[in-house]
Amino acid sequence: MAASDASPYRAPIGTHDVLPPDSERWAAVVGRFAERAARFGYGLVITPIFEHAEVFERIGDSTDVVRKEMYDFVDRGDRRLALRPEGTAPVVRAYVQHRPTPPWKTWYVAPNFRYERPQKGRYRQHWQLGAEVLGVDDPDVDVEVIALAHGFYADLGLRQVRLLVNSMGTPEDRAEYVEVLQRYLLDHAEGLDPEFRQRAEEHPLRVLDAKQEAWQDVIERAPQLTEHLSADSRVHFERVQEGLEALGIEHELAPRLVRGFDYYTSTTFEFASDALDAAQNAIGGGGRYDRLAEEMGGPATPGIGFGMGIERILIVCDAEGVSVGTDAPALDAFIIDNTGGEAATRLVAQLRDAGLRADRSYGGRSVKAQWKEADRSGAAYGVMIGPDELARGQVGVKDLRGAHGDKEQAEVVLEQVAAWLLQRAEERAR
Ligand code: HAM
Repeated sequence: MAASDASPYRAPIGTHDVLPPDSERWAAVVGRFAERAARFGYGLVITPIFEHAEVFERIGDSTDVVRKEMYDFVDRGDRRLALRPEGTAPVVRAYVQHRPTPPWKTWYVAPNFRYERPQKGRYRQHWQLGAEVLGVDDPDVDVEVIALAHGFYADLGLRQVRLLVNSMGTPEDRAEYVEVLQRYLLDHAEGLDPEFRQRAEEHPLRVLDAKQEAWQDVIERAPQLTEHLSADSRVHFERVQEGLEALGIEHELAPRLVRGFDYYTSTTFEFASDALDAAQNAIGGGGRYDRLAEEMGGPATPGIGFGMGIERILIVCDAEGVSVGTDAPALDAFIIDNTGGEAATRLVAQLRDAGLRADRSYGGRSVKAQWKEADRSGAAYGVMIGPDELARGQVGVKDLRGAHGDKEQAEVVLEQVAAWLLQRAEERAR
């Protein structure tokens, strides 16, 4: 019986299970990212799911993710810990702790926890694929990091992805700009609701990405950060744009793009999908955080990276009709045994040892039930073995997916069945 909504035996609200066959798409997405990251020379980094809460306070104690959404708790040893709400701070913490030789190029796949209001594309546990590079402030590395993400969406076959880029300048540029912006916003608060004034006072930058219809006029005419960049910041940002152009990576300047964390400096970017609702259309985002390592007590070390939500990527794949890793049959062969199971035990081991994906039925089911199971398993071939076949030293093989056009059951010499199936698997992969 299915558990009711109120039952404790359901995944908590805002979380979900990933079951086969959907988990295969999931694994395919992660596998492609891993393969691409390796091509770029990035190594996998694995950090704990929880950290000392201070690690995340560095990402901005004025941000909602830290103030309102963190899963923090005191453990039995009176330590204040928090489940990771994002992936950058832990990687920087690991850098500061281990001091690997820069440049340190890493990638990760990890769950993140935010106490959000769940809706499609917004969850309390979501997974991110990400990359971080520590120890290089060369704008060419910004281009490399953006190219890593950009090419990944292209690898998946996504077409409706827009890249937005901005520069936050140095913290000094930003402080100067925030003052200008705040003055402007407060001068234009007349006639708008009290929340506008409050936000302008507390966190003027966050007014820029507000969705309130009534505020848009004022927001659109607001002074822009890119007009207040220092010469160094401007040169850096221009070089990033030139690099993107050199690689043919289309991008839009988005002077009002405000990323949700305080650690950002210099280049910031976001990938938006037009296949998603505007409120959740970010399928990836990132930027520089050149002061974060120092803020954690490490040596001054620039850094840049991005994170992309796996769930959102899969929603976009569905919306764009892109299939990921779902074309291949789930198994190369499923064994139907009529010897009481002994032949299946030997044959399935032999096929698996040969590198084939093979499965069998258990529990002494009828031959008919086993054929049904074979069909349901998604296997390319059903392989029949019974006393008659054994006596002839042969097995019966049947193309279950019609992928090879041979509908009838054919006989294959038992000794050669692994080689025969491998050849068929290769033909399918071609
Ligand atoms: P973020 O923009 O908060 O950045 O998250 C990165 C991506 O994770 C988003 O673009 C979105 O695809 C996905 N995401 C975020 N929150 C949720 C959610 N509640 N449900 C589903 N998907 C979500 C970061 O986390 C930074 N650490 C990125 C970064 C890396 N910056 C520099 N390096």
